[in-house]
Amino acid sequence: MTIDRAGINALMEITSRPELVFVSGQGAWLQDHNGKRYLDFIQGWAVNCLGHNPAAMVEAVTRQAQKLINPSPAFYNQPSIDLARRLVEASCFDRVFFANSGAEANEGAIKLARKWGQLHRKGAYKIITFDHSFHGRTLATMSASGKPGWDVKFAPQVDGFPKADLNDLDSVRALVDDQTVAVMLEPVQGEAGVIPATREFLQGLRELTREHGLLLIVDEVQTGMGRTGRMFAYQHAGIEPDIMTLGKGIGGGVPLSALCAREAVCCFEHGDQGGTYNGNPLMTAVGVAVFDVLAAPGFMDGVNARAQQLSAGLTALSDKWGMRGERGLGLLRALVMDRDDGPALVAAARDRAPEGLLLNAPRGNLLRFMPALNVSADEIDTMLAWLDALVAQVRG
Ligand SMILES: Cc1ncc(COP(=O)(O)O)c(C=O)c1O
Repeated sequence: MTIDRAGINALMEITSRPELVFVSGQGAWLQDHNGKRYLDFIQGWAVNCLGHNPAAMVEAVTRQAQKLINPSPAFYNQPSIDLARRLVEASCFDRVFFANSGAEANEGAIKLARKWGQLHRKGAYKIITFDHSFHGRTLATMSASGKPGWDVKFAPQVDGFPKADLNDLDSVRALVDDQTVAVMLEPVQGEAGVIPATREFLQGLRELTREHGLLLIVDEVQTGMGRTGRMFAYQHAGIEPDIMTLGKGIGGGVPLSALCAREAVCCFEHGDQGGTYNGNPLMTAVGVAVFDVLAAPGFMDGVNARAQQLSAGLTALSDKWGMRGERGLGLLRALVMDRDDGPALVAAARDRAPEGLLLNAPRGNLLRFMPALNVSADEIDTMLAWLDALVAQVRG
């Protein structure tokens, strides 16, 4: 198959993309327009939690498309009711608002916190977020993010997101004032390079926010839905936040996200929040199918076993090549290298023949691994063996 260059030029240029068109996928594998196969350890940036085109999702989307696609968010539909009930029963939250992307769910969380501040904290609106955090690409979520340089892009920013340092409770305490309404963080900073918030820090944050009457918001767009080996990452710390956002894995690859909150925080009035596609049955039916696979007995045991295998394999590779070790939680892991050959490794892995390997380097010296949660032991071993050979190749 040849590439349609005029068609490619009709797409807005927003990032550098390799000259490949992906045409099909199955499980851990993707296939391009030349018929070359790739072992995929990116999986849509931690989105395809059940791999490419899993039968449960294909069946759910087909069945629902034949039945009802979108009656409008002004009416109830059964799949969104079913998914909301599953999410509240699996978490400490009482109510769910469905959206279409992680950024949109986070916008909802910010609005909910500000509304709550208007009602209960004399108009307090500031949300303390963290350096190097990532919450999305809308104006408010870019302002909430601590990505270097984002404070001047598309200026002026949305006001009210002072930045603290992850795992430093004093840095949070120092920012609290009478305008503060909430603290918002990723339980594991993903885009920053897979940096977990410690259990002690999360517990300390919960105490600090309670003491000051502030909301605790966890952005679990990347860490939620089993990615870290529990359904939600906050559960590792034994805390109960007030608000949680979900995205990525909740739809297994289709556009679906969620804003979850405890009853006492659910203060939207009619008209405050909504959207044409919110909670549509086509996407939420897929969400139900994905959820039921993740919640099936033994599924998380598999995730944790594969996570241990990946962690041990990356540690061995790091030791062999004199790198700086590995880190992460569950199947969100990073290999910390001793030099900046991440981009060279990503390119060499992709160009590998006869089969390629898809990897991600969020920083020059870092590789991030986000395989499907049902990745097999053999696929992890294959990736590790290929990566070892690629390091030898890139380092000459
Ligand atoms: C923690 C976190 N929050 C929010 C987002 C934004 O999600 P989306 O790209 O679906 O808007 C991401 C995406 O990578 C993320 O990792």
